[in-house]
Amino acid sequence: MKNILINIFKKNYFFTILKKILKRFEKNTSIEAKNWAISNVNQTIESFCRSIDSPLYDKIKPDLKLIENEAKEKLSKINVRLGGGGNYILLYFLIIKFKPVNIVETGVAAGWTSLVILRAIKKNGQGNLYSSDFPYFRLKNPEQYIGYLAKNEKNKVDWYLDIRGDDLALPEIVNKINNDSIDLFHYDSDKSYSGRANALKTLSSKFNSKTIIIFDDIDNNLHFKDFVEKDKKKFCILEYKGKFLGIVGY
Ligand SMILES: C[S@@+](CC[C@H](N)C(=O)[O-])C[C@H]1O[C@@H](n2cnc3c(N)ncnc32)[C@H](O)[C@@H]1O
Repeated sequence: MKNILINIFKKNYFFTILKKILKRFEKNTSIEAKNWAISNVNQTIESFCRSIDSPLYDKIKPDLKLIENEAKEKLSKINVRLGGGGNYILLYFLIIKFKPVNIVETGVAAGWTSLVILRAIKKNGQGNLYSSDFPYFRLKNPEQYIGYLAKNEKNKVDWYLDIRGDDLALPEIVNKINNDSIDLFHYDSDKSYSGRANALKTLSSKFNSKTIIIFDDIDNNLHFKDFVEKDKKKFCILEYKGKFLGIVGY
């Protein structure tokens, strides 16, 4: 409780934290969303990757094992709960396969996804990562843990990390991308309907018909269903450890 109060009154965090509290009162559609996800789930992560390039899926397995072991070892040295990682296997596969240049992710936390994205960029020899996050305000000095797993990668690959929260970070990322477009977008931050919708709205001018867009935890609310149904987008839903993620543009 003490950490929460200290963080709430840090000058840059107050409005984001207030908004996060208010978002808790948004309509709860998680039951409908989960039922919709279950009835539309097509494949597992593995079968999805194999349907695109099965030999590549086998080839990247040793890289992922190495990254996983390294990350677990690093995490075991700190005594803090930083939340589980997003779907780093899928991200690593897609980046090695499609070699996107501009990659944007929301939600960094310990940095599982940032780590694999930066490693894949390094392996490809091209690419930039733009990440948005907001500190876990239940922790003491939470800023120090953001991207903890990926900190050493920063010297080797271009990585812009903005920890002011999506509302401030995403417009800044749009500026930085300038005239280019986003090739891959991974959303894993504010799980509310409005958070997801605002992020899409802010970044929409940087998407093109080939942009791969991935939303984690689409069973939280009906945002992904509404998003794909609005323009009749082709989509795929994958199940991973009892959770669901949605992809368009693959
Ligand atoms: C599920 S974790 C991300 C996990 C990460 N992708 C990984 O693989 O390790 C969600 C993160 O989003 C952050 N977050 C929550 N609300 C946010 C917001 N409004 N803007 C930016 N980040 C936010 C949380 O503080 C947390 O760090």
